[in-house]
Amino acid sequence: MRIVCTTDTHWNHAQMVEYCGRPTDFEERVYNGLLSFCQSGDVLIHFGDICIGNDEDVHRKYIQTLPYRHRWLVRGNHDKKSDSWYMDHGWTWVGSLMRSKYFGQRVMLSHKPQPWHSEEEWDLNIHGHFHNAFGPEPEAHPEVTKYFIRDEAQLVDRVIQGQSRHVLLALEYTGYQPVLLRTLVERGVASRQLWGENKLVEVIS
Ligand SMILES: [Fe+2]
Ligand SMILES: [Fe+2]
Repeated sequence: MRIVCTTDTHWNHAQMVEYCGRPTDFEERVYNGLLSFCQSGDVLIHFGDICIGNDEDVHRKYIQTLPYRHRWLVRGNHDKKSDSWYMDHGWTWVGSLMRSKYFGQRVMLSHKPQPWHSEEEWDLNIHGHFHNAFGPEPEAHPEVTKYFIRDEAQLVDRVIQGQSRHVLLALEYTGYQPVLLRTLVERGVASRQLWGENKLVEVIS
């Protein structure tokens, strides 16, 4: 069984073209990516921000037709329906945070980056929400500039205090394709080994 991850699909949100430079056909690209990536028995995790309004139609068109064995939703700030509504519309698990152990790492899955307090809690926090706020070439800036995130200083502070334990998944950087959870974890571990505490967040591209 593979665990396939996506985030911030923002279906029914045409302003994403303007806000994040997405192509005008991003809705289909995201959906087709999820469809073609799926293998028998795969589980899908969505790190939140499914759509902006029109929830019924979006779920009928995009969520319920995806052939994943299970679909797990880690709620984002735009996912405002009740848990039972999501369970009735294609999701088999809904929550705000998901903690588990994957590939030897204690992993926290969330929409927004989580605060890190001590080594008792988790090794990696894989999250979404920032989109391409780190600019067009995040890999060119291993220290990750704060420049592009204007209104969410407290979230940036969480990343800074996390000492290289945060991994950002943003569709703008992955060509609108999903990524295996195994890849996200391995990239987070490799980044920490390579950069120590000098790279604030590993951006998956
Ligand atoms: Fe988002
Ligand atoms: Fe968000």
